[in-house]
Amino acid sequence: MPQSASPLIDIPIVARHAPVLTVVVPCYNERPNVAPLIARLDAALYGIPWEVVYVDDNSPDGTAAEVRRIAQTDARVRCIRRIGRRGLSSAVIEGALSSSAPFVAVIDGDLQHDETKLPDMLAALQSGQYDLAVGSRHSAGGDDAGLGTRWRHILSHGGIRLAQYFLPIRLSDPMSGFFMLPRPLFESLAGNLTGQGFKILLDLVLSAPAPLRVIEIPFMFHERTAGESKLDALVLVQFAGLLLDKVFGGLLPLRFLSFGLVGALGVLVHLAVLSVMLKLGGLDFEPAQAVATGVAMVFNFQLNNEITYRDQRLRGPRLWRGLLLFMLVCGIGAVTNVGIAKILYDTNTSWSLAGAIGAMIGVVWNYAVSATLVWRSR
Ligand code: GDD
Ligand code: MN
Repeated sequence: MPQSASPLIDIPIVARHAPVLTVVVPCYNERPNVAPLIARLDAALYGIPWEVVYVDDNSPDGTAAEVRRIAQTDARVRCIRRIGRRGLSSAVIEGALSSSAPFVAVIDGDLQHDETKLPDMLAALQSGQYDLAVGSRHSAGGDDAGLGTRWRHILSHGGIRLAQYFLPIRLSDPMSGFFMLPRPLFESLAGNLTGQGFKILLDLVLSAPAPLRVIEIPFMFHERTAGESKLDALVLVQFAGLLLDKVFGGLLPLRFLSFGLVGALGVLVHLAVLSVMLKLGGLDFEPAQAVATGVAMVFNFQLNNEITYRDQRLRGPRLWRGLLLFMLVCGIGAVTNVGIAKILYDTNTSWSLAGAIGAMIGVVWNYAVSATLVWRSR
């Protein structure tokens, strides 16, 4: 080969190839676990060209900075830092789509999964016999002792039962966050993924047009040594939403469903406050309807922020700005709401029907506004 002044030419061709395996690590506040996991990957994947992509949602503990520190001396280490967003599934999707390797694995960043199973997973997929390798805590030889509390066990097992009713294939651990698949397959499914909540594996399996050929690889689910779990009850609500979304074949977008539920609850809150104000508070109808509207507005804002827009949840100053904006713009809707409800009430409509119609108009207005102005994607 002729000598060249360009330093690139001197690099052996093999070093310019994409890695065979991209390991995607979704992480939030996992700083102390970063260096140990990379060291373990390095040991477990000896002889396999690999890279790791941390997808960090701007963790306050400086997880991204820690990844970048290690990346200074190890080109196999990459980091995607996302700002203004939260969510395990969407983090995994972005990490996997940043890969050019033939295979993509997903593993938790808290050392709870067993990285020594990665070569087995890779070998199984490379044999061409399988489309998906899943690290399973529930097939023979696996163990979920690391789940911790009894409550977590019940949640986990209940979720698995529920999921199995919807699954086109048999999976003993459909909630697993530890799996591997060919990147082209991931890319072909990516457009159909819901991308919300925790259950990316389930999302993948349910999005595949034909049943995937799956191999389950048992592993021990370790206890968490540093940091804390981010799985809570709201994650389960999202999980139910994911199943519904798949059952309705995407006819009913998840956010709309969530909006609808929150709105319905908001109407109940509105009516409850209205009746208390009228019957116990002795207020006239107009001020009572106004107070009920205000309370329902704050209630809707909070619930939508926690559930509907959980992945772009507003916090700190943004929360207050969002609430202010929400209330300001909704004020216009509220004036209309109170006005219409009063006209109806004055023309002998019952207080409950007048109140409900007024509230409905407010709620529809709130939806339109919140989607475009308050939680607009940044
Ligand atoms: N980027 C990003 N954004 N990462 C997140 C987020 C988020 O909003 N929430 C959690 N993570 C990361 C964590 O930092 C960790 O690396 C991984 O995702 C799993 O989160 P944990 O909070 O440790 O979850 P867990 O241990 O309770 O849940 C495990 O078991 C579940 C089944 O019981 C995970 O393996 C889940 O995937 C699994 O469904
Ligand atoms: Mn964990």
